[in-house]
Amino acid sequence: MTTEPRPALRRNGDADWDAWPVAEYLAENYRHMHPCDVGVIHHHSGFYRQFAPGSISRSLELGAGPNLYPLMLAAGASRHIDALEPGSAGRAYLREQLERGPEDTWEPFYALCRSLDPALPATLEEALAKVHVVPGDAGDLVDGRYDTASMNFVAESVTEDFGEFTALCDAFVRSVRPGGRLVASFMERMPSYRIGSGPVWPACPVDEPALRAVFAPRTVALRTSRLAKDRTLPEYGDTGVLLLTAERP
Ligand SMILES: C[S@@+](CC[C@H](N)C(=O)[O-])C[C@H]1O[C@@H](n2cnc3c(N)ncnc32)[C@H](O)[C@@H]1O
Repeated sequence: MTTEPRPALRRNGDADWDAWPVAEYLAENYRHMHPCDVGVIHHHSGFYRQFAPGSISRSLELGAGPNLYPLMLAAGASRHIDALEPGSAGRAYLREQLERGPEDTWEPFYALCRSLDPALPATLEEALAKVHVVPGDAGDLVDGRYDTASMNFVAESVTEDFGEFTALCDAFVRSVRPGGRLVASFMERMPSYRIGSGPVWPACPVDEPALRAVFAPRTVALRTSRLAKDRTLPEYGDTGVLLLTAERP
């Protein structure tokens, strides 16, 4: 009897993150607000509202990509936000938004963020003025550098190797000082996926027990919840979105 060899797991370094299809990704996910964005924004806004306005000196957005709303959400509580991104296309988009002004399509996202958190600056431009685009990936993080860290659709969307997913989550936790706080979102049970008709990007399907198994030994005050599958998005094969808050002990 012969068996087909199992295809090798695609690891983070196997994908060309410089070639991330920013325009198609924005078109599929962020040109207008989807129900899952509303859910993530409500969740993350609640996290940031626990802090006095301007009381966080340094925040991280890990694997920022071209998504501006996690950056907006941090701008009420945080005085300085590092948007760490390994991909040149994602960084170029972010820099353009900061230097030339954000595209109008982001305004409804900011209106929602500000309606939930009046500590946010009056304009989106003022909020984004706190953002610094930093080249690099999770492997470049310095232990304990940040007071808060946020990660959205990254650890489970950039590798097929569960060990590497775990290492990425570990680096995320260790990026904050002891007592530092974490907020994150993950696609639930998403297999490797395509954006438009482009190449397949590596992903690692995770559910709530898997997330708890990774974060419980590394954090305290761990809270997870989920959002129902968003059928207004393209079919990525996911079953919803997982949300997380925690603290580094
Ligand atoms: C699915 S996108 C999510 C982008 C964005 N955070 C969002 O909310 O839409 C995954 C992002 O992770 C970035 N990435 C890939 N490998 C990474 C790594 N090892 N460390 C940090 N970010 C990584 C990619 O370049 C890409 O921007």
